[in-house]
Amino acid sequence: MKTLRSVKGMHDVLPRSMPAWHAVEEGYRELVERFGYQEIRTPLLEPIELFVRGIGDSTDIVEKEMYAFEDKGGDHLALRPEGTASAIRAYLQHGFQVESPQCKWYYLGPMFRRERPAKGRYRQFYQAGAELIGVAAPAADAEIIDMAVQFIESLGIGPVRVLLNSLGGEQTRPLYRKALVEHYSKHEQKLCEDCSRRLERNPLRILDCKVEGCRALSVDAPSVHDYLGEDDREHFDEVRRLLDKGGTPHQVEPTMVRGLDYYTRTIFEVQAESSALGAQTSVLGGGRYDNLVKQLGGRATPSIGFSFGIERLIMVMPESTHKEQVPLVFVAGVGKQSLDRALDIARTLRRQGRRVEVAHTGASLRSQLKKADKLGAAFAVIAGEEEAKRGGATLRNMTDGQQIEVRVDELSARLEELR
Ligand code: HAM
Repeated sequence: MKTLRSVKGMHDVLPRSMPAWHAVEEGYRELVERFGYQEIRTPLLEPIELFVRGIGDSTDIVEKEMYAFEDKGGDHLALRPEGTASAIRAYLQHGFQVESPQCKWYYLGPMFRRERPAKGRYRQFYQAGAELIGVAAPAADAEIIDMAVQFIESLGIGPVRVLLNSLGGEQTRPLYRKALVEHYSKHEQKLCEDCSRRLERNPLRILDCKVEGCRALSVDAPSVHDYLGEDDREHFDEVRRLLDKGGTPHQVEPTMVRGLDYYTRTIFEVQAESSALGAQTSVLGGGRYDNLVKQLGGRATPSIGFSFGIERLIMVMPESTHKEQVPLVFVAGVGKQSLDRALDIARTLRRQGRRVEVAHTGASLRSQLKKADKLGAAFAVIAGEEEAKRGGATLRNMTDGQQIEVRVDELSARLEELR
């Protein structure tokens, strides 16, 4: 029979990788909660329309990469390709806009995009993100960028590059759009098939096209910075001033647009220099989306957020950041009598909060100690019959093999001293 395998681009995360995953997940929760963010969990499946309206129907994500289907009841559903649209759907659905319009939310979970699999690019990947809903001030942009950078640096990743741009708001967009259409129209025959379509519908997307011919045309495309309206320019300058003041180096990338249509004004990416990632140097991306709430049926609510791929972060994270495990204690019993005692000792130590393994059969001491070693135990407790007569057990340091006899009721205290 053919052995079944996981779907292309979708991976098992095995137990040996968990110290790294836990370091990222727990480090992230701890940090964003310090900034006042609260967790939200939304379903993996959403109505397709949420992403068509939210992310934009001429983006690659919606046009080509969504896992979308009609379920048996005839509903049109999609596996979520990102978390922002879902967070805003929940914000509107549960009446936050009326009752508490400012929300600081964070999330972690799997996302799905049917992209071409590559190093650091998967079809199911895990994202963690944060959304600051209902705040327009540039100080919010600077704070959230600072939070993102602080988090990545807390994992020992570096050096990182922060790329920043502004896409402008309502003042800027129509003018910039017109300038782009004029520029690319002159070379229309050189555009790829996708970009020919984008020319009228969404010319900003052409700046993001990876096809060589389109990239060549984008080199001398008009810069958004020549079209920024006064308010948009002031907003961008203020974000930069605050980042400088807070000591967050950044680089303005005038052609950066990002792959989702909801962005307005500030957008940013954090890149990590690492050969482990191949071409996927972007570990985190985000930006302002001042029109999304309105597009999804609410009132205009300026907001900003970011998200990052957990797999990508782990690929560039040094091993020293992986979450340290609590030391393991292996309890060995020899013979039927001491097996019972070993099980008792294990039960007590576990109740005291220690991480404990115990042999369930009375195998030879030698083979039990071998197993303890294989499991990476820091200590072994040997419940021998002789020591039992004195209410004791042997405590063995698995690193140097040193052994001492300890009273069972003092075991926990001795383990604490030896840590
Ligand atoms: P995004 O740039 O599409 O933005 O994705 C954010 C991050 O998710 C990327 O920087 C990357 O680390 C990771 N990522 C994306 N696609 C893949 C993939 N196929 N495989 C592995 N990792 C991937 C968003 O998703 C926006 N929702 C960010 C945001 C939140 N903007 C405002 N709020």
